[in-house]
Amino acid sequence: MLKIGRNDACWCGSGIKYKNCHESFDNKINDFRRARAIVPTHDIIKTPAQVEGIRESARVNIAVLDYVAEHIKAGVTTEEIDHWVYEQTTKYHGIPAPLNYDGFPKSVCTSVNHEVCHGIPSPDVVLKEGDIINVDCSTILNGYFSDSSRMFCIGEVSEEKKRLVDITEQSLQIGLAEVKPWGFLGDMGQAINDFAKKNGYSVVREIGGHGIGLEFHEEPWVSFVSRRGTEMVMAPGMVFTIEPMINMGTARIYTDKKNGWTVYTADGKPSAQWEIQILVTDTGYEILSY
Ligand code: MF3
Ligand code: CO
Repeated sequence: MLKIGRNDACWCGSGIKYKNCHESFDNKINDFRRARAIVPTHDIIKTPAQVEGIRESARVNIAVLDYVAEHIKAGVTTEEIDHWVYEQTTKYHGIPAPLNYDGFPKSVCTSVNHEVCHGIPSPDVVLKEGDIINVDCSTILNGYFSDSSRMFCIGEVSEEKKRLVDITEQSLQIGLAEVKPWGFLGDMGQAINDFAKKNGYSVVREIGGHGIGLEFHEEPWVSFVSRRGTEMVMAPGMVFTIEPMINMGTARIYTDKKNGWTVYTADGKPSAQWEIQILVTDTGYEILSY
């Protein structure tokens, strides 16, 4: 990499002199690198203009999930949810990111009960009283990506399912409390895993969160079974998702052989997931979508 002069314009695109912008940032990163930590590269640090683009995308993402929240109920098929997501996203001039992503056939993932994630909407899946469902919505607006998911309880659900959904959502807050510049992603991962375990649940190991913004899935990969003081250093300008999948029973999972997508719990017990998208700021974090 070319060495940048202290009076040159910063690499971040702010237009400010390097010495007044990201010089101290780079010094910190270099300290961590010397200490053998995993550090973010410049290309995953978002510029202020990029952050604004991602924020706008996230506003659409939230509006689409709000629409789902208002209309979801017993009797609705997951195919109908897929139509809502397509219609609402395009109404705001967005594109549903899952559609044709790696061959994914629909606009949204809908995962019911023991489906962990990547459920494919279908006219054959009719929601019924007592179901829990994750609706995972990802949006492209003007080339910027956003991604979040929520759980919905259909009518009256059992106490044990309700508790799983609530504890999973609470785990986001526990994880968020660990997000700050110059902490480690593992601080967040361990906090979530400890909390889930303390409540008698298990956390899916193979599937995690991800950097996002200019692409659907960017570095880093984000584990929720990691250890404090490990994984990538969190630096201001990083955007990533926190999206733990928490199982009532075993953490083990398998993927549907026929459709190649849907992930299920190995023991058939329920699984829940909430997903938020966050920006690491100079003082902590900003929630972009929830
Ligand atoms: N939010 C999910 C993820 O981050 C969405 C997957 S879309 C799919 O992986 F097309 F890959 F299913
Ligand atoms: Co995601």
